Amino acid sequence: MSNTHTPLKSTAIFAALLSISITHNTQANEPQFIQSTMKQATTIDTLTSVSDWNHPANGVWIAAIGDMSNELRYTDLAAEAPRIDRLNTLGDPDFPFDTDAIKYSVNPDGRLMIRIPCAAGEKLYGYGLQLDKVNQTSRVLTLNMDHWGTGGGRTHAPVPFYVSSKGYGVFFNTARFLKVYNQISNRKDAPNRPPEVDRNPPADEVASQPGPWQANPMGDSVEAAISGSGLEVILFAGDSMLEVVQRYNLYSGGGALPPLWGLGFWHRVHAHHSAEQVEAEVAEYTDKNFPLDVIGLEPGWMTKSYPCTFEWQTKRFPDPQAFTQGLLDQGIRLNLWENPFISENAKLYDAMYPLSGSHTVWLGIAPDYTLPEARKLLTDQHDQDHISIGISGYKMDEVDGYDRWLWPDHATFPSGNSAEALRQTYGLLLQKTLYQDLFKKQNQRTYSLVRASNGAASGYPFVIYSDSYDHEQYITGLSTASLCGILWTPEIRSAGSAREWLNRMQTVCFSPMANLNAWASGTKPWDFPEVTDAVRELIELRMRLLPYFYSAFAQYNRDGIPPVRAMILEGGFSNDDQTVIEGKLDSETNPYATGQIIEKNDQFMFGPSIMVAPFYGEHATERSVLLPAGNWYDFYSGELVGNNTRITVTAEQLKDRTPLFVKEGAVIPMLSKAVVNSRDAQGHDLVVRHYGNTAGSFELYEDDTTTFDYQRGASRIRSISVDANGQSRMQTEGNGPALFGEIAEVRQMTK
Ligand code: GAL
Repeated sequence: MSNTHTPLKSTAIFAALLSISITHNTQANEPQFIQSTMKQATTIDTLTSVSDWNHPANGVWIAAIGDMSNELRYTDLAAEAPRIDRLNTLGDPDFPFDTDAIKYSVNPDGRLMIRIPCAAGEKLYGYGLQLDKVNQTSRVLTLNMDHWGTGGGRTHAPVPFYVSSKGYGVFFNTARFLKVYNQISNRKDAPNRPPEVDRNPPADEVASQPGPWQANPMGDSVEAAISGSGLEVILFAGDSMLEVVQRYNLYSGGGALPPLWGLGFWHRVHAHHSAEQVEAEVAEYTDKNFPLDVIGLEPGWMTKSYPCTFEWQTKRFPDPQAFTQGLLDQGIRLNLWENPFISENAKLYDAMYPLSGSHTVWLGIAPDYTLPEARKLLTDQHDQDHISIGISGYKMDEVDGYDRWLWPDHATFPSGNSAEALRQTYGLLLQKTLYQDLFKKQNQRTYSLVRASNGAASGYPFVIYSDSYDHEQYITGLSTASLCGILWTPEIRSAGSAREWLNRMQTVCFSPMANLNAWASGTKPWDFPEVTDAVRELIELRMRLLPYFYSAFAQYNRDGIPPVRAMILEGGFSNDDQTVIEGKLDSETNPYATGQIIEKNDQFMFGPSIMVAPFYGEHATERSVLLPAGNWYDFYSGELVGNNTRITVTAEQLKDRTPLFVKEGAVIPMLSKAVVNSRDAQGHDLVVRHYGNTAGSFELYEDDTTTFDYQRGASRIRSISVDANGQSRMQTEGNGPALFGEIAEVRQMTK
């Protein structure tokens, strides 16, 4: 196992650990030992303070408890190195806790526990791709890799990172199963223990009770524990929750930058389709004038699947190279489904066998992808059979399943890494393998799918999807993913009615990946005639917004700002001083300096200035929308809709278009006309929309759209500013290639 990061070793911490473990080893069965351990383990006074914090960049602090030398850290698997220079330009916030406030214990049962204080009223958000809500205050979560099951923490991306309303974030940088108690349970000697209240007071004592009786009063800390030999914790501070998330993403290497084609429309075909059938489906898109950028092949493209061979099934695809090239000639990219478990019919099988774990998955061997030899075998084969003929990406399936679907917790792997660590990181390891060892080596960008991810993953251009299908939860995922460096697609597969089809299409078209995964039902975008025009117009709008959305991804890459964001990351709005709570965030004196906190799970930001409030479920044709402080304008008409208020919108009033609201002063570059493929966006004229009555600007990002040359400076930014009177100016910085065409018009949307 390779660990590039040297663990921090505090002498004090090690002295404490040593004394406990010696006692434990020598006296394990004697009553005296049990007594003394109980004394040590149950009082806060005897918890040990974490005092040895490393400070690698402004606003970032790292400490480790115990011995990390045999532990796998998520940051070891990040796509790119931490962006220290950029982090240091973000200001220099103070350490977000009192010195010595963070404490830990090493329990006699081997658990390592860390305790992070929480103030009363503090709200906690995040913990990965939780699909039920953004607010995780006062919850117990088991952060184990799994399919999504409502609540409880188990999910496709159980990222052990939370953001606090007080303006800091905590990342448990360990590939261990982690159990967190968020403000649950109170230690008996906690300084802020809530007062006792008599539940059944006599009548004359009711008034003197300190408050209402509570069954389970909120605790004053987050306590998180693993079973393992070491636990690393990284703290991020910031003047707002957005800045905390930015720091987390920048420390993880910055955000992913997909190729432009990845932001077009995706369509997956039936698992049994032949080359000819795929070509016929592509032709249908052309005939019907629907945009299309990516075709996804499901398992039947391989000789055998579940377990997989990764080799072309020539009965269905007699000439994979000509087939792939034929699609590329039309601007269509090909994405291949696979899972990483290898069939004994695969040419790779024999060489991979000794490099795989003790147990099979779907009867395939499960390679230990922490081993460079295993990664090389896979990527050499993929390079030769797929990349060299023009394959553009993968859908890496089945890396999330657990107990029944993956390996048991006692499985062994040749690297010596635990089954638990492999389960937590398998999706990450596959992303690393494909991104670093395959695509990046060829100087080719990918945009791919994966069903599991975890910490420090923001740099990976992989989007998570799920087999669950609740529309409301799918919308929520767009917010929660944005809090932990994850991209999520609320993919569309089927619908019970034309209305549901349109509504789900609206959600997915304002997400990181506009993915139609209706391979099983065979539903096409135009299959509900009542809404065909509305669906076409919607996909066309996504295409017209490519300059805007691609630039939002560039900002994710450069600055760590998620392109699709939870409302809680929207701080004060510059044009409404009345309701914005200004000043420096301070836990005691100014805890809401970021402005209001909008905890809506069903609204989210798409790029810097567009808020999306999709119709869904019971709110299929009518819903309420919370407009935060600041003026908000109707995207389509430019009319002022409201400010710091709640409104109701209907599908009828919007003529079946998606409810979209734009911030005051927003500048939005769009293609002047819709295109059916992202290739046609290149060199295309732009219309720049300006909303409201105040000045605004936009940084339009351009590069060659498909290679990593941008990392070596081959990009440029056209800064477009529009003043309060609608007069515009443009300034270009950087020597990279031009991508989009000229600005044909600056349109003042608000009259
Ligand atoms: C599932 C996956 C689906 C589809 C299917 C193919 O596991 O989530 O999206 O790809 O496999 O067999």
